[in-house]
Amino acid sequence: MQIPTLVGLLLGSTAQVAAQFSYPNLPVDFLRTSAPVTPLPNGAPWGPRNVMNTNAYDDPPKTGVIRTYDFTIARKNLAPDGFTREFLVINGQFPGPLIEANWGDTIQVTVHNQLSNPEEGTALHWHGILQKTSQWMDGVPAISQCPIPPGSTFTYTFTADLYGSSWYHSHYSAQYAGGIVGPMIIHGPDDNKCDIDLGPVLITDHYHEEYFKLVEMVISKDLDAIRHKSDNNLINGKNNFDCSSTNRTNPCRNNAGISSFKFTPGKTHKLRLINAGAEALQKFSIDGHTMTVISNDFVPLKPYNTKVVTLHVGQRTDVLVHARKHETGSFNMRATIANCSLTLNPNALATVYYGRTRPRNPPTTTPWPEFLDSVLNQCANDDLSLTVPKYPIRPAPVPAFTQDVAVNFGPNATGFLLWSLNGVSFRANYNNPILLLSNLGNNSYPDDPEWNVYNFGSNSSVRFVIVNPKIAAHPIHLHGHNMFVLAAGKGTWDGTITHPNNPLRRDVHILPGFGYLVIQMKSDNPGAWPLHCHIAWHVSSGLYLTVLERPDDIKNLQVPAIMAQTCRDWSAYTGNHIVEQIDSGL
Ligand code: C2O
Repeated sequence: MQIPTLVGLLLGSTAQVAAQFSYPNLPVDFLRTSAPVTPLPNGAPWGPRNVMNTNAYDDPPKTGVIRTYDFTIARKNLAPDGFTREFLVINGQFPGPLIEANWGDTIQVTVHNQLSNPEEGTALHWHGILQKTSQWMDGVPAISQCPIPPGSTFTYTFTADLYGSSWYHSHYSAQYAGGIVGPMIIHGPDDNKCDIDLGPVLITDHYHEEYFKLVEMVISKDLDAIRHKSDNNLINGKNNFDCSSTNRTNPCRNNAGISSFKFTPGKTHKLRLINAGAEALQKFSIDGHTMTVISNDFVPLKPYNTKVVTLHVGQRTDVLVHARKHETGSFNMRATIANCSLTLNPNALATVYYGRTRPRNPPTTTPWPEFLDSVLNQCANDDLSLTVPKYPIRPAPVPAFTQDVAVNFGPNATGFLLWSLNGVSFRANYNNPILLLSNLGNNSYPDDPEWNVYNFGSNSSVRFVIVNPKIAAHPIHLHGHNMFVLAAGKGTWDGTITHPNNPLRRDVHILPGFGYLVIQMKSDNPGAWPLHCHIAWHVSSGLYLTVLERPDDIKNLQVPAIMAQTCRDWSAYTGNHIVEQIDSGL
């Protein structure tokens, strides 16, 4: 296992410093980790780079600091909302430990797969990281690596190449809906005035069924099973649940408790909103407080005010909230699942309090009137005219290549109701990761149309015109890039581009129901990059394609030997164990 030493050599002198947490007010459970973490950012180790003088895609800093984490993945019974079920956990906890680094640091996560009864492979994906110098560290089984076999260890090493708020999750089947998910914060320049960074606000729809059973329901011929509902909604892994509302016999405890956030009067607070759920489109709001949006995903924006933030799965929004000046009360924070998603209990609550200590009784505040009405029916992101990146970049006005993509849903040859892109419902082969095949010079997979690989050759830019003939909205996610979002809406695209000289960039954007989404990427990152719907159930049932970008350059990537070794280990494991791949695999 050469990777740590290699990075150490490349970076020259490295530093690792004693543990101390940047977010002491979060629920203790959330941060239990063996990682050495300094209170970050600790100055501005990224040097003179700031939001306006640096193209983050071309010129990330190198701090020489390695942030190491040790993750053990196993099964465990937990009851985040009082209802006990089996989880897949990292270091015994859900949500998983916070990963925290400065822009330009190296993040190194050693993952021990201790999943047993039943055994499963796993792989962790670092959502939104570009991986421009480590394309094989993207953590997608069948695409960039073979799964980590049960009983094995794999170390991910990558640069914190963008800055802002994000998350990591298993990309093996729908394991992240079972609990393998956590926040990831990369500190970087911020030219907004902010006094107190309150850290991650992880929002997750929550199910009282084990993830494998949920996947079994999704891969089905029965629409009612496919459209199963979440049972609850959580903020930082907490919410109350009324045990009398279920007829299941699992141990259940009322008033499990909710998360809380302390506001200091007159100060400006940063909240890092992260939708790390499986299916639900979330609407976020704080009673009596407007918010200033300052970034979407890893992209700082020109600030704008709002009372409600929309987040589909995978999306993040950093907001600033100005605390009231002479206030001693407490207020409800709300994450509410939108009407286009499927749930029995849409409301997650947390407490924002001004006093010295957290109040005993829940706040009695009422939501903004704007929050109650039409907002919950809007299953689209904020208008593209509102969301303008601070650092302007102009995409190629005429892309080198345009790819039409049609989303569809319907029965396959054997009657299973599956999602598809251009008629293909994706299914992975864990034993043959596409990036590694391409690195060996193999770029055509005629026997495997279901891998859904699009080879864009050396085209310098690619535009995707994605059309959606169905009612469901999809959070479309592209790996390895921040995509330019040129247009999104209902009906048919008329060719208009919003802010053609500086369109929104981000890594997930909503494709509206009965509508279109037009995105464009600059081909600056040779690799095999998933383009998929981030609804766990939709990617499980095939709503996925692979962007094969600049295969001539993939051939020259210096892929470390551990990648081939992991495939030999997986192959040996699957030689005498049956892998139950009932879904697409991702
Ligand atoms: Cu959040 Cu394909 O990933």
